[in-house]
Amino acid sequence: MKTQYFSVTSAADPAIETVGAILRGGGLAAIPTETVYGLAACARNDAAVKNIFAAKGRPADNPLIVHISDLAQWPALVREIPESARKLAEAYWPGPMTIVLPRSSLISDTVSGGLDTVAVRMPSHPVARAVIEAAGVPLAAPSANRSGKPSPTTAQHVKDDMDGRIDCILDAGPCQVGVESTVVSLCEKRPRLLRPGGVTPEMLRRVLGELDIDDAVFHRLAEGETAASPGMKYKHYAPAAPVTILKGSLRQFCDYVQSHKTEGTMALCFRGEEARLPVPAVAFGAEDDGAAQAAAIFAALREVDKRGAKAVFARFPKMDGVGLAVFNRLVRAAAFRVVDLGGAP
Ligand code: TXA
Ligand code: MG
Repeated sequence: MKTQYFSVTSAADPAIETVGAILRGGGLAAIPTETVYGLAACARNDAAVKNIFAAKGRPADNPLIVHISDLAQWPALVREIPESARKLAEAYWPGPMTIVLPRSSLISDTVSGGLDTVAVRMPSHPVARAVIEAAGVPLAAPSANRSGKPSPTTAQHVKDDMDGRIDCILDAGPCQVGVESTVVSLCEKRPRLLRPGGVTPEMLRRVLGELDIDDAVFHRLAEGETAASPGMKYKHYAPAAPVTILKGSLRQFCDYVQSHKTEGTMALCFRGEEARLPVPAVAFGAEDDGAAQAAAIFAALREVDKRGAKAVFARFPKMDGVGLAVFNRLVRAAAFRVVDLGGAP
């Protein structure tokens, strides 16, 4: 298949209508959102949705997020919308937050991965919203990477993974948030955070009052344990080289890397630290800037891969605010390998 490329700088560009037509015709389109690039198909077209799984190499039991551009599209997708969900939507939609609720009969098993629930999000990126409007229906869209690879935050990342596998790629520049949306489930008695993202636990608690954080956010699931969010059970975001996170000061980090480095060792560090490291390094944002780290982490993981790293040591991000999402992605890239160097955090 030949992948078509479109580049736009505004939601008024006529290319968006072309992409809408591709989607209406059952095609697959990679589209920008404020979080990461998504690989979209019409959510009601099961054959097209199946092609998403094939193009990504995604396991069929890992459900997709359904994207809407208008609140009026939401009620048809779910059985009911509780007060808590309405309040969340009012506070943080459009934006980097996904709400899981029991699904309506309009949602197929293919979209929901066989679950009884559906994840819905209204993105804030004007081009994403314009594409949904042009398609005229909600769009099912996972991140537009090959399964297991870091999510794409530029159209070039999408091209690296998907060229020749999908109908088109719509380039609107780099994504601003840089990590995927916060996923919150309102299916049980208490709201549960399934995946941290741009909307932080504090922001959710401000609206919901209470919030449980799913164990899978921090820990590897034990053998046989079922994931509330199926995506959490798969190895994720990983470069080819093994990644190890080192918890400690910059001084401790440098000493450890110095004594453990071999041919091809690289570091993932905070901005401004590169020159102090004993190995080639890629920075992923300043130490105290969780938002900058989120915007840079996936590109940094791809970069060490491109530079042929054989082993990667990464700095330990602060886990507050958006930093929790950065930690969550990085610890998965590291297959949960964290070495505590002791001393100051
Ligand atoms: O920011 C985002 O959310 C991006 C952009 C494109 O919108 N999309 C995205 O999709 O990250 P994906 O498929 O890569 O991640 C969706 C996550 C997966 O971990 C999946 O298991 C979970 O959401 N999920 C989807 N539907 C679910 C459901 N019904 N119940 C629990 N988890 C669900
Ligand atoms: Mg993904």
